[in-house]
Amino acid sequence: MSRRKARHEICSLQELPVGERKIVDIGKRSIGIFNVHGDFYAVRNICPHQGAELCRGTVGGTMLPTENPGEYNYALDGRILRCPWHFWEFDITTGEMIFVPDPKRVKTYDVTVEKPELERYEVGVEEDVVVLYL
Ligand code: FES
Repeated sequence: MSRRKARHEICSLQELPVGERKIVDIGKRSIGIFNVHGDFYAVRNICPHQGAELCRGTVGGTMLPTENPGEYNYALDGRILRCPWHFWEFDITTGEMIFVPDPKRVKTYDVTVEKPELERYEVGVEEDVVVLYL
C-alpha cells in the first residue's frame, strides 16, 4: 500500500527568487526551501553534526581540489549551504556533505567517512506557486 504525499503550498514564485530561501515549519519539521539557479530544493533544517539550524547558514560555493599548490577552483556557487555553527558544507542539490581529504599533505590515519543524511523532499512549481510534497 503506497502512502500519498501531502501537498504544502509554500509561497509564490516571486517570493522565492534565485539565491533565496524560505524556512517553513510543517508539523514538527523545519524545512528550508532553496531556489538554486531557478531549481528548487528542500532540506531538513537540522545539521547532522550537532543539530544547528542548518538552513540559516550562508549559501555560496566552495573550493574544490586542484592539481597544483596555489591553484584555486571555486565552484558550485549557489549550491553550497554552510552550517552556521561549525561551517560544515552541504550540497543543497543532493544533501551530501562536502568533504575534501588531502592524504598527501600530512600524515594520515585510517578514517571512515560516513555521509550524514539530510532529509530531502520533493518540491515543485505549479502555476507560479512553490509547492512542497511531504
Ligand atoms: S552543527 Fe553544523 S557543523 Fe556543527
